[in-house]
Amino acid sequence: MRESVDFLVVGSGIAGLTYALKVAEYGKVMVVSKALADETSTKYAQGGIATVMHSPDSYTKHIEDTLVAGAGLCDREVVEMVVSEGHARVDELIAWGTDFDKDDSGSYALGREGGHSMNRILHHKDATGKEIIRALLLRAKRHRNIELIEGYFAIDIITQHHLGNIVRRNDNNIYCYGAYVMNPKTGDIDTILAKITMLATGGSGNTYRTTTNPVVATGDGIAMAYRAKAQVANMEFIQFHPTSLYNPGEKPSFLITEALRGFGGILRNNAGESFMARYDERKELAPRDIVTRAIDTEMKLEGKSHLFLDCTHLDSNELIREFPGIYAKCLSIGIDIRKEWIPVVPAAHYTCGGIEVNKNGESTIHNLYASGECSSTGLHGANRLASNSLLEALVYSHHAAQDSIARFENITFCEDIPDWDDEGLVLNEEMILITQTQRELQNIMSSYVSIVRSDLRLQRALDRLQLIYRETEELYNKSILNKDLCVLRNLINVSYLIVKMAQQRKESVGLHYSTDFPPKKVL
Ligand code: FAD
Ligand code: SIN
Repeated sequence: MRESVDFLVVGSGIAGLTYALKVAEYGKVMVVSKALADETSTKYAQGGIATVMHSPDSYTKHIEDTLVAGAGLCDREVVEMVVSEGHARVDELIAWGTDFDKDDSGSYALGREGGHSMNRILHHKDATGKEIIRALLLRAKRHRNIELIEGYFAIDIITQHHLGNIVRRNDNNIYCYGAYVMNPKTGDIDTILAKITMLATGGSGNTYRTTTNPVVATGDGIAMAYRAKAQVANMEFIQFHPTSLYNPGEKPSFLITEALRGFGGILRNNAGESFMARYDERKELAPRDIVTRAIDTEMKLEGKSHLFLDCTHLDSNELIREFPGIYAKCLSIGIDIRKEWIPVVPAAHYTCGGIEVNKNGESTIHNLYASGECSSTGLHGANRLASNSLLEALVYSHHAAQDSIARFENITFCEDIPDWDDEGLVLNEEMILITQTQRELQNIMSSYVSIVRSDLRLQRALDRLQLIYRETEELYNKSILNKDLCVLRNLINVSYLIVKMAQQRKESVGLHYSTDFPPKKVL
């Protein structure tokens, strides 16, 4: 199949749908998602959206908190833009039907998370993302200009490389003409030509063995953009959430929201000691990189695979009312959080880096935009402040939409693009190799490129990655494509970027902590 649309959006999370809803007022939009449309990281967001609603909070405080969490590497202008525009974008989300919790006085109830100096997290119980995706999807499905197609896997974006031209990474004149997308009904690779392509493919948590991310989070957009020679940045900053539920074998790991620590939950080691004061005066509510490293250190000192979050001192009724999802989940595995400590362990959670974009969400490839977790805007620096990512996606998708709307009518389709050619390729009969290699990759990343790193570990990771890269490329070059092989290739590409950028960073800062470099002091 060959189709032409004004706007091709890859991804149906908060970033993709927000952009789609805005540009759909002006042209035809196709949104593709590789699984069911609601199967996104967005759906699993628990804590909420950080937004300045009213005094005594202020933009200045939220900006300062973001800069401090980012350990000196945020782009201040971007931080100011996102924070100051956040309220308007959240109002829009509410106008589109999203329901956030209110207190008894009818004002929005604002939660607290690590690194925030004020209560400023809008939420819907402990299932904020589910509520957001419900509202956005309902609206998108009703829009006459949006075609939402589920189960379609984008393989590569199309550039002049596909016309036979040589494209180099620092070339300023690379153009995107759409994407090749795998059609699950026919098994064919469809050519989708688009005036503007938006990558909103989310994060890459599945490069690691344990992650809070759903299986769709395999860094596809980042890998596609990198292969097309777009600039990718800050990939060394992988955020590990301090508290995922320790429940061996469960994939993805169930998140125990930081909002529970904001509510008064206390971290305890296996000896029962509340240890956070030894690591940071902000204790449980220090920025995430600090809490995660503290937990990692305690677990190593004790030789244990997890520690605990204690909520037993909190008001039981309020606890269940505010965190019904966590209560039910823990109860389902035999833990009553009113009476028992929750076993927790850090897990890969958020990709701070990604496709480099300017303030309009434009990548370094013309007519290719990126928003949400797959992008690198400069907001997060070396460590994302909790609940700033949903906000970032809203603000950047808005900017990208405004810019796209102003430009798309002057862009013409490139009709010369050839269809996907798989002549001479054979069916891949070694599916098991793909599964095994994916597991191997996740083990490499978890063993050598995790919370604490070193030059030696990173080099080990790189050596091993190079081997599986060569094997997988060989398989790819001779096989008729299948989704799992493409995903594996993307995971390898993204892992390579994480390792290479980690090797290039000769300091310990934020989420990149190396035993070879003393930690940077942040003022
Ligand atoms: P996603 O919501 O992940 O959507 C990605 C989309 O891309 C999906 O539709 C997927 O199918 C599609 N896709 C990917 N690859 C392809 C491909 N090759 N072809 C076709 N489609 C493709 N952030 C906060 O701010 N507050 C929170 O409380 C919060 N809690 C979180 C809790 C959990 C458990 C997790 C995992 C994350 C949480 N985050 C939170 C982070 C936040 O949810 C994500 O960063 C954000 O939702 C990402 O949105 P997105 O639109 O960029 O991507
Ligand atoms: C959480 O609820 O703890 C996750 C929030 C986030 O990742 O921003």
